[in-house]
Amino acid sequence: MSSIVIAGGNKLEGEVKISGAKNSVLPILAATILNGGKNIIHDCPELKDVSASLQILEFLGCRIQRQGKTIIVDSSSVNEFHVPENLMREMRSSVIFLGSIVSRCRKAVLSYPGGCEIGPRPIDLHLKALKKLGIKARESHGYIFCDAENIIGNDICLNFPSVGATENIMLMAVMAKGETIIRNAAKEPEVVDLQDYLNGMGAKITGAGTSVIRVEGVTELHDVEHTVIPDRIEASTYLASAAITGGTVKVTNVNPEHLQAVLAVLQECGCKIYIEKDSITLSRTSSLQPVDVIRTLPYPGFPTDMQAPMMSVLTLAKGTSIVSETIFENRFKHVEELIRMGADIMVDGRVAVIRGVDKLTGANVNAMDLRGGAALVIAGLAAEGVTTVNGVHHIDRGYEKIEDKFINLGADIKRVD
Ligand code: EPZ
Repeated sequence: MSSIVIAGGNKLEGEVKISGAKNSVLPILAATILNGGKNIIHDCPELKDVSASLQILEFLGCRIQRQGKTIIVDSSSVNEFHVPENLMREMRSSVIFLGSIVSRCRKAVLSYPGGCEIGPRPIDLHLKALKKLGIKARESHGYIFCDAENIIGNDICLNFPSVGATENIMLMAVMAKGETIIRNAAKEPEVVDLQDYLNGMGAKITGAGTSVIRVEGVTELHDVEHTVIPDRIEASTYLASAAITGGTVKVTNVNPEHLQAVLAVLQECGCKIYIEKDSITLSRTSSLQPVDVIRTLPYPGFPTDMQAPMMSVLTLAKGTSIVSETIFENRFKHVEELIRMGADIMVDGRVAVIRGVDKLTGANVNAMDLRGGAALVIAGLAAEGVTTVNGVHHIDRGYEKIEDKFINLGADIKRVD
């Protein structure tokens, strides 16, 4: 089990190139099953969750090639519709394979993806949508059995704008008979990227990025080549590291439009932000200011994935901030660890009150989930003394070469196996 050891106190300075978005490449890899042909995907990040998806694709019969940041998937010989439990449990978002396997094979057997560190992660919205599209779904012994002679387009209204459910419905509807409408759809940029990918292989989808998505079923799909959008959460994390250390960092290969809510909060904290077409520079020279309330919301609201890294920044603000986590049930596991580093945080249910302190001190802390782990790393960058973050495998799920990128920004950081 690796750890990351950080000697805090360096102001981060320099440029960092942002990788392709994890939460875009994962549904896109699932979508490669649909066309029974060649899929060339550029700017794929080297992450544990991407490796887990490739394992599932290979198990299903796909042929995979990886050339640097480009992944080539040939799905012409998919000969399996069952994904074994060990592969499903590798990552929570593996439920995204349900839609594409059912769409291609007209049947699917998947084990429940199971909860993860941030909450039970139910899939009721996915299953309700399946049934509305005429797919028979039965659950027993921790498995989901799906059968669909025909998939019939329908008008589906989600009771929550779930990202995964929106994406799964798009995948199920691509080759359905007739039109499918998804109302109260998630509007995240990664949903738009999936629409662009699917349309690139011949699907007919409109409306992604708004709350109503329309999918006109087609019968033929073809080869596709696509470049994944930049990772807005990775970019936001590196900007937060400049904010907490009082440095100047330029993130390149970004779409500033995708992180407006995070930029607004960083400006409220007293950071100076300079935006160009595909880069953002953040510097902080004055003291960190508190933020009255941060409420995590579906896009374009403040992203739940930035709640933990932003909380680390707020621990050093000159005043009290409030963070309300409205999306996930159990996403404050980093709080105990930040308190070990000297932070002053009180949690009541889904609300955390952060009273700023003068300094954080290095400590031995444990990453409990992906974004909480990132929060501990950036807290360590600003802490006095040495911080050891254990459980780096959580962080490797979503941040490509995190220590290398921070070393290039002047951090005193190393990975210890
Ligand atoms: C996606 O997860 C992201 N993962 C998450 O990123 C992100 O935090 C989340 O969207 C919200 O933006 C990927 O894209 C791979 P949801 P997803 O369905 O699709 C409840 C990261 O750190 N819900 O929008 O699982 C659910 O319990 C990860 O990169 C149901 O109740 O998120 C949660 O409370 C973490 N029933 C809320 O909706 C359902 O059927 C949001 O979930 C589905 C979801």
